[in-house]
Amino acid sequence: MRTLRYSFAPMEGITGKILREVHAAHFPGVDRYCLPFLSPTEVHVLSPRQKRELEPGPLPQDRLLPQLLTRSAEDFVWCASEIADLGFGEINLNLGCPSGTVVSKGKGAGMLRDPDALDRFLEAVFSGCPIPISVKTRLGLEDPAEFSAILSVLNRYPIRELTIHPRTRRELYDGPVHLDAFAAAVRNASAPLCCNGNLFTPASVQSVAEAFPTLESVMLGRGLLADPALVTRCKGGERTRAALLAFHNDLCAEYLRIMHPNQAVLPKLKELWAFLRLLFPEDGSWKRMRKCKTWAEFYPITQELLQNQPLLEEADFPRLGQTAVSASDPM
Ligand SMILES: Cc1cc2nc3c(=O)[nH]c(=O)nc-3n(C[C@H](O)[C@H](O)[C@H](O)COP(=O)(O)O)c2cc1C
Repeated sequence: MRTLRYSFAPMEGITGKILREVHAAHFPGVDRYCLPFLSPTEVHVLSPRQKRELEPGPLPQDRLLPQLLTRSAEDFVWCASEIADLGFGEINLNLGCPSGTVVSKGKGAGMLRDPDALDRFLEAVFSGCPIPISVKTRLGLEDPAEFSAILSVLNRYPIRELTIHPRTRRELYDGPVHLDAFAAAVRNASAPLCCNGNLFTPASVQSVAEAFPTLESVMLGRGLLADPALVTRCKGGERTRAALLAFHNDLCAEYLRIMHPNQAVLPKLKELWAFLRLLFPEDGSWKRMRKCKTWAEFYPITQELLQNQPLLEEADFPRLGQTAVSASDPM
């Protein structure tokens, strides 16, 4: 029987080194943790923050996948070479980021606008990069039909793995995914595929695995933030309240060790709880949490939920609403 590989999706601002390591310590099952994108600059120096993300830790490098967001082949090859020198064996190219500021600079999903330019970029990075390259993409900018031309370009290169988020840039992370477009990619892609998007329950993962028997991997993002035990459960394990509480409280302790409680830990935990709250019945807590100005106000609400409130069988995603990429982002 096939073994499906599970990746934790990269989520900028959320799935940093601390969250990845604390998650792995409490919830077995995730095969690979994808790092949020690094943006190499033309000065060709890794910032202290970028270096910290890539530092060795409890997770071995073959369970980590760094990602680059750039439209410069030269900067990509430079940064991938630095990352290879640190011992990583694969690098991921971001062709999916829908943020207005990123797309307007022709990066992320902006690279899908011109398949010929993408071809030239890929030619340069595949000939210069010392380690295998995987790619994470969307279907296009406006229309899923754009993907057939994009895929013809991608098929010319030895992509280690192609993760498809079957939405266009315009759709951000909202609405249904285009599984018909993903099915066409399964028929036509040369690279091994990974499916990403709206896999929020073990049943939804199972149905994608059944629909696509050749699929090698799935990538889960928001589902794992809402239910950190999601992959554990997909692999036959259980979610326990004790593990959730220990994960959450270790995460808080690790953040508090190096960050300011009100200025840094509070906004970070609000981002996590925007998803984790979906595991609890709606009771007004999230409204109160969002209004908190201090860590001292916020933390007791988390403890009341985690210790005393019922856990839903599955996270209640219909309550999520629209996922803002960034409130300040021009589209
Ligand atoms: C806040 C946020 C940050 C994200 N950051 C990245 C990123 O750095 N790189 C990337 O390729 N995708 C990024 N994504 C997209 C996710 O990796 C994933 O494709 C998306 O959440 C859809 O998967 P899901 O439905 O399982 O959540 C981000 C998504 C969100 C909501």
